[in-house]
Amino acid sequence: MKRIGVLTSGGDSPGMNAAIRAVVRGALYHDMEVFGIERGYEGLIAGEIYEMDRRSVSDIIQRGGTILKTARSEAFMQDEGFAMALNMIDSFQIEGLIIIGGNGSLTGALRLAEAGVKVIGLPGTIDNDLPFTDFTIGFDTAVNTVLGAVGNIRDTSHSHERTTIIEVMGRECGDIAIYAGLTGGAEIILIPEQEVDMQAVCRRLIEGKNSGKRSSIIIKAEGVNISSEDLEHTIRERTGLDTKMVILGYIQRGGSPTARDRMIASLLGYEAVKLLSEGIGNKAVGIHDGSVVSFDLAEAMRMENTTILELGTLAEILSK
Ligand code: F6P
Repeated sequence: MKRIGVLTSGGDSPGMNAAIRAVVRGALYHDMEVFGIERGYEGLIAGEIYEMDRRSVSDIIQRGGTILKTARSEAFMQDEGFAMALNMIDSFQIEGLIIIGGNGSLTGALRLAEAGVKVIGLPGTIDNDLPFTDFTIGFDTAVNTVLGAVGNIRDTSHSHERTTIIEVMGRECGDIAIYAGLTGGAEIILIPEQEVDMQAVCRRLIEGKNSGKRSSIIIKAEGVNISSEDLEHTIRERTGLDTKMVILGYIQRGGSPTARDRMIASLLGYEAVKLLSEGIGNKAVGIHDGSVVSFDLAEAMRMENTTILELGTLAEILSK
């Protein structure tokens, strides 16, 4: 394979740039030409495709976001847009494509693979909702960002003797909430994978108060089936505790990637290039027990997500 392309798609995540760097420099090491495709599938359809060299990826390993830009493409889901994307791949004689993104983006990658394009999918999302990898690129940074926020909120929560609900991202996955909740010492963690038991939540807050706790932190994943406003209202009504909620939002998606995210991004980016250089496509590349693993893309996208519920239980035991 002599010419490959790389794009980032969907919500950006810290470490995408480190992955792009690994792809570009890895490709050049393997004597391949590498093209950056801007704005994900939108840019692919529009032909926003530029050759990259070593210097195109200088000074980006430490930067959040993605230098290639990203988008969620409606057009790519339609037959006409998809056909345009295939035409562009053909026109630019791109023989292999590396797609860095989350669930929706890799589902798009699978469609390209089924149309005969040699595609490698890399897990780039803060959500950690891709079952073929223990960790997605960006998850660790997002958890650390949440942790910083929890620390700050804990200070004011303590001073005002308050219960604070902190809503975190993650779509239908509770991993950000569980990891940040356990490591941030949250009293209660609410995730979409478990039904919210309002009686238990209120009882626990009151038991905490009776045992001498003056403030509590609740980490709630955005996918939980009750809004943070309603939760705040219900807790205040049922317990009489001073309760406030805060939605952390996009601060979770930015920032300089942690060492762990840069490491995963570098390993996976290089592996993707290596596979393409051997003529192998249609793979999803991830990390399992510290080693790089790859799966058939269709098989990877069929895998079921498993939540580490024991971590939630442990968080509860340790924060009593
Ligand atoms: O998938 C990453 C993510 O940040 C989710 O956690 C969140 O639900 C979503 O993207 C927000 O997307 P948008 O950028 O379209 O608002």
